[in-house]
Amino acid sequence: MKSTPPPTQAETPTVPPSAPSKRALTKSGASSRRLRAEAVARELQVRLGARSYPLHIAPGLLSDPANFAALRGRLLRVITDQNVAPLYLQKVLTAAGIAAEEALVLPAGETQKSWTTLETVLDWLLKTRLPRDGVVLALGGGVVGDLAGFAAAIYQRGVDFVQLPTTLLAQVDSSVGGKTGVNHAQGKNLIGAFHQPQMVLADTDTLKTLPPRELAAGLAEVIKCGLLGDAPLFGKLERELDRMLALDPATLAEVIERCCRLKARIVAEDERESGPRALLNLGHTFAHAVETYTGYERWLHGEAVGLGLCMAADLSAKLGWLPQADAARCTTLVERAGLSVHPPAGMQPADFLRLMAHDKKVAGGRLRLVLLRAIGESLVTADFDPAALDATLAQFCAHAAS
Ligand SMILES: NC(=O)c1ccc[n+]([C@@H]2O[C@H](COP(=O)([O-])OP(=O)(O)OC[C@H]3O[C@@H](n4cnc5c(N)ncnc54)[C@H](O)[C@@H]3O)[C@@H](O)[C@H]2O)c1
Ligand SMILES: [Zn+2]
Repeated sequence: MKSTPPPTQAETPTVPPSAPSKRALTKSGASSRRLRAEAVARELQVRLGARSYPLHIAPGLLSDPANFAALRGRLLRVITDQNVAPLYLQKVLTAAGIAAEEALVLPAGETQKSWTTLETVLDWLLKTRLPRDGVVLALGGGVVGDLAGFAAAIYQRGVDFVQLPTTLLAQVDSSVGGKTGVNHAQGKNLIGAFHQPQMVLADTDTLKTLPPRELAAGLAEVIKCGLLGDAPLFGKLERELDRMLALDPATLAEVIERCCRLKARIVAEDERESGPRALLNLGHTFAHAVETYTGYERWLHGEAVGLGLCMAADLSAKLGWLPQADAARCTTLVERAGLSVHPPAGMQPADFLRLMAHDKKVAGGRLRLVLLRAIGESLVTADFDPAALDATLAQFCAHAAS
């Protein structure tokens, strides 16, 4: 694992002494913007008893002080990265009434999900004396969310945290469900804790600045949701993918909400992944093999998941569980999202088998996979004909990605 470059404190403290009031915002002409945002806004609840929390999805959430009202009177710390900070940090500081010294800006990238950076974050929380009733705000993609969430989970035996996800992947997946953690040299996400946030604010306006590759990678997790448990979502994506790619606010809010609802339902059933939560790993066993083969560098996680979905669908079809035409629909949609449906050049079936055997979903010596019975209906099983898997691997590996 690479070493961690030093973090930087947020620059020039340009925070106004207090956050503008709702009335001030309305007077300043923001009211029509707010009305438009309210028209598409979505809200849902992750139901986990005492650990339940709300999830808000709408454009402009990070600029509206009303969304931070629940945190008023508590000491807050923002953790973000160098790509996100210049775009959104000031908005959050202003809306939440936080001083610039109370933000930590880390370098961006998966390598930051490390023990070393975690220590940096904990040192900073201690140095800036966040009290036990303080709140950590994670502003960024899944890397910042997982890292800041884990820091919040263990700082003084646990403080509250809020997710402010700014990538599509984080808005539909990583910010919901309370999995937090860092990577280890021996593998991804090997050190961590379950720690649910107090609230998630998914501001869909932030997706406007997301690089297209990151947007496509997030779409893979969206398609996954449709395939594993929401056939109408899959149909909507087939009809309206172009609107998603154009970041139409109403389409985005509805699609993100559907994904979050599905994940919230599964997490409510199985918070600690002893059963149905594993369904969320559809396509991931294939994807992890691709990520490991390419050294976690060339392929983004979501890109590997897109291919993994096609492979899982193809295998389900070869087993006779899913109509071949539905597997083809999956491939078509993944391709339309701008994702590869071919493995990396040089990767052979034996590489897949070897790397998939390392996946944590191997139980009792047999490989367990999430497979499909229909679009919108998935199952976890080790009970499949290995010859069908061989056939899928041979077919996919015959056509490498360019
Ligand atoms: N906790 C969970 O349940 C869960 C689920 C899925 C994935 N994950 C984790 O999430 C991580 C991946 O998350 P990710 O895909 O969001 O990656 P990321 O956090 O690295 O973000 C991707 C890139 O986009 C930049 N960025 C973020 N928001 C931006 C914006 N609005 N505009 C411009 N640039 C922006 C980031 O700086 C980064 O360079 C992985 O570590 C994965 O293990 C966790
Ligand atoms: Zn994933």
